[in-house]
Amino acid sequence: VVVESQAVRVELPRLSDTLAFGEEIGARLIAGDLVILSGDLGAGKTALTKGIAVGMGITDLITSPTFVIARVHYGDRAPLVHVDGYRIGDALELDDLDLDTDLTRAAVVVEWGDGIAEQLASESLHIKLIRHLDDSRTAVLAAAGIRWTAAIAQLPSAVSATGPAPAEGAG
Ligand SMILES: Nc1ncnc2c1ncn2[C@@H]1O[C@H](COP(=O)(O)OP(=O)(O)OP(=O)(O)O)[C@@H](O)[C@H]1O
Ligand SMILES: [Mg+2]
Repeated sequence: VVVESQAVRVELPRLSDTLAFGEEIGARLIAGDLVILSGDLGAGKTALTKGIAVGMGITDLITSPTFVIARVHYGDRAPLVHVDGYRIGDALELDDLDLDTDLTRAAVVVEWGDGIAEQLASESLHIKLIRHLDDSRTAVLAAAGIRWTAAIAQLPSAVSATGPAPAEGAG
């Protein structure tokens, strides 16, 4: 039985907020985790993945893995497998790719992964990025499985805690 959580929204006014939010996620990722990113072209999926890599202690340059479909990045902790699902038609095609890595020993982030990557793990964190006219973004988080249900409830406050101090005096 898949546990579907309530969707949680995080406002990301600037690119730096998206990177910082990614860092919060990356700091929580362990081997076997699966993060499925969705959102239109330019929504910020790769930007979020850059932050995730930083949070995982990875110093590689993260780019869209467009020409290779998947890249593995190694850091202090679990490797990050970054997959671009844009041209993958369905889950079977994803299975056919030899990702050349034991996914249970890595954290896996799949751009355009909705509907194709779910079978890579029993649980997943889904993040949809919405781009607004003013270039701000909203991340809509949903958990498939128990592991992420509690975590996504805490992520928005973790992000605001790292954000700029409120304008009012501390009182
Ligand atoms: N608040 C923001 N959050 C994320 N990106 C932002 C924000 N404001 C501006 N940007 C810019 O938007 C672009 C997002 O591009 P990015 O490659 O991350 O999108 P993507 O969803 O991965 O696109 P694609 O579908 O082509 O893979 C970047 O150039 C980034 O600098
Ligand atoms: Mg991208």
